[in-house]
Amino acid sequence: MTVVVPVDSHHPDPEAIERAAACLRAGGLVAFPTETVYGLGVHALDRAAVARLFQAKGRPASDPLIVHVASTVQARALSVAFPPTADRLAARFWPGPLTLVLPKSAVVPDEVTAGLSSVALRVPSHPVALALIEAAGVPVAAPSANLFSRPSPTRAAHVLADLEGRIEMVLDGGATTVGVESTVVDLSTDVPRLLRPGGVSREALVAVLGNTPLQDAGPVQSGPQLSPGLLERHYAPRTPVTTYEGQAPRVLERMRADALAAHADGHRVGLLIFDEDAGLGQMPGVLVVRSIGPSTDLEAVAPQLYAALRELDASGSDVILAHGFHDVRGLGAALRDRLRRAAAGRIVTC
Ligand code: TXA
Ligand code: MG
Repeated sequence: MTVVVPVDSHHPDPEAIERAAACLRAGGLVAFPTETVYGLGVHALDRAAVARLFQAKGRPASDPLIVHVASTVQARALSVAFPPTADRLAARFWPGPLTLVLPKSAVVPDEVTAGLSSVALRVPSHPVALALIEAAGVPVAAPSANLFSRPSPTRAAHVLADLEGRIEMVLDGGATTVGVESTVVDLSTDVPRLLRPGGVSREALVAVLGNTPLQDAGPVQSGPQLSPGLLERHYAPRTPVTTYEGQAPRVLERMRADALAAHADGHRVGLLIFDEDAGLGQMPGVLVVRSIGPSTDLEAVAPQLYAALRELDASGSDVILAHGFHDVRGLGAALRDRLRRAAAGRIVTC
């Protein structure tokens, strides 16, 4: 049975936190809010608990976990080399939505890192996450609290939809604020590499790195994964999604034509749009329309994306047409990446 414990997202009740921390220390699985998405936490140094975590999520053992800690000092203790770039990035972005991949210390079990010699570390900024990690007194390994390959959870209800009965507890701290996962930067080799775009933008990283170059991850690989976020199909609803990218007038024209054609073929069409596209919904054959906010305010849009994909999936639509992300500045890069993966490569360039 999964116990749901409501907590105030700014000032969590210490008793609720201690209950969850005790569960973690005893090897339990506890989902908790971070500023990005809900994580499914487990005592990172408890091999048996880590094994249960992979099982609960249906996650392949080859996909390494992020270890969440409460401070840079705690992060250093889990790594054998903390280069000056790590210090600078940590000083600027921790606590916050940045994950640093560093050479791992022997105290981190191989199960956590999928046998890699590096470990992914993050200090989250959500008060509930920080309080939980501090109270647990141990590093907390936590992937997103969804079933493997499903959209990440940004609300406790999403966690329950995927994992009810498979985990001990959910701390319900309401909706998350950033809404996309952390940015993952690999500092375990000479040149820093951006493995996954996320809540900290590339521009913000470059501003701190100065003259140190930042490589981008290569194209999607089918062999051993550098980062499973690089798998082509990920973050995906069950209903097929197509994402339309380009200048708005052309995108809307094409989405309208494709929606009408799909309707004519007997499909029930779901639309994922921006606020300013509302006119699109008013046509025959559209079963459900979900707006994710104004395209000019990606910080408002990001916390809506996964929720919208889940809602459209549950709505009875059998195709989802999504107005994609054209501008990849700031959060745009992460949002485009997640929607493209949800679309499993069904990208229409307009
Ligand atoms: O915002 C987030 O990062 C959320 C919250 C819960 O913190 N967590 C999250 O975890 O998104 P997950 O497991 O869904 O994604 C972890 C990412 C994957 O892309 C994984 O490949 C990468 O981190 N990763 C973990 N350890 C790694 C390592 N040693 N080397 C390269 N990539 C690693
Ligand atoms: Mg995930």
